[in-house]
Amino acid sequence: MTTAPVRLPEHLIHPFAPAGRPDPYPAYRWLRANDPVHHDTASGFWLVTGHADCATVLRDPRLSAARGQRERAREDALPPSMLTTDPPDHHRLRAPGALLLGPAAVRSVADGIAADTDALLDRLAAAPGRPDAVADIGRPLATAVFARLFGLPDGELTRFETLARAASANLDPMAPPARAALGRTAATALGRYLDAHTVRLTAQGADVPLAALAADTRLTRPEMLGILNLAVVGGWQPLAEFVGNALHSLLPDRAAVRRLAAADDDLARLAVDELLRLEAPIPFTARVATAPVPLTGGTLPAGARVLAVIAAANRDPDVFEDPDTLRLDRHPNPHLAFGGGPHFCLAAQLVRQAGALLLPRLVRRFPALRGPDGPAAWDLTLVPRRLRAYPVDLCPAGEAR
Ligand code: HEM
Repeated sequence: MTTAPVRLPEHLIHPFAPAGRPDPYPAYRWLRANDPVHHDTASGFWLVTGHADCATVLRDPRLSAARGQRERAREDALPPSMLTTDPPDHHRLRAPGALLLGPAAVRSVADGIAADTDALLDRLAAAPGRPDAVADIGRPLATAVFARLFGLPDGELTRFETLARAASANLDPMAPPARAALGRTAATALGRYLDAHTVRLTAQGADVPLAALAADTRLTRPEMLGILNLAVVGGWQPLAEFVGNALHSLLPDRAAVRRLAAADDDLARLAVDELLRLEAPIPFTARVATAPVPLTGGTLPAGARVLAVIAAANRDPDVFEDPDTLRLDRHPNPHLAFGGGPHFCLAAQLVRQAGALLLPRLVRRFPALRGPDGPAAWDLTLVPRRLRAYPVDLCPAGEAR
């Protein structure tokens, strides 16, 4: 006997429909409660929305990231990377990746990122008008972080940013074919740029994390370039977009803004995790089931194309009290915004560090910082979840600068 496919009730908008972009959370809530392992006939994907089941999807070896990412059909032209391989090959690629993104690398760039953040805030204070949190804060922060990791000269930043933005189209598993093709072309151009840049860096004997990775003999050159490409495609835009998403959650809550302004490093890091939980820049990620996988909410059949819906898991009331509410000091906070299992974001510490350097400094410098009135303009792109723009008022009329 076949069972009829479960459908969302009519009053809910499908989370992948353009009209669902501003607030996909009611649909996710319904799915989590009523059909937590849901076959979405529109996209063909199985949507897994509960926290425990999502964590299983990310960790269980029967769910292949290599196939999940490859079946997005646009990675084939790109060099292999740790996200497109399963263990044991995956571990061989990931271990050297720590030279670029591990704790020692993060420590080596932290002071530089703090200085870049201060310079960014100085520029904001000096510029007239309302800056856009996405274009004028998030993107320059992300570019500054990569400049430190990769040793990019100032004169190259615009070129790097243009390439990184264009190649980021590869993040979205549902990008229309024409956009995906442009993303592939851009990723090839980015690969050529990174190759030439690495040659220059090595010749100069530069002391930056990228030079350490390039000197490591465990990787072939295409493998090393694959890691760089993945870092830029998987990291630049999510980091850039995180800033707008975070301010959108934070600024309406003035008590939280004041608390963050007074935060020490520990609270600042908790706050970054909580802001990532509420509006995860990577709301879901793809896998393919290589065998039937029983989950608490239902069974995934062999061959199923699966999305671990991080954005839904991050608001699961079985795990998070008041899941839709910002609690700056939430602890523990087992959110899945950085994924989980073998592919857990290799740059999680870097992102926490960069966020904890930027956000408290921003609200200390501009304590009256306000977001726009009215509904936010969410972009149609599904991955990353991003605001098209988020103009902020650094110092609303009547408040001292
Ligand atoms: C707010 C910013 C970021 C978020 C939310 C984020 C999120 C994620 C997630 C969810 C995954 C797992 C994907 C999967 O399992 O399919 C991942 C993997 C990864 N991320 Fe991030 N990321 C961010 C920034 C970065 C940055 C800045 C970099 C590099 C500089 C980076 C490098 C990586 C790498 C290399 C992997 C693959 C790890 C592996 O396959 O073993 N990420 N990230």
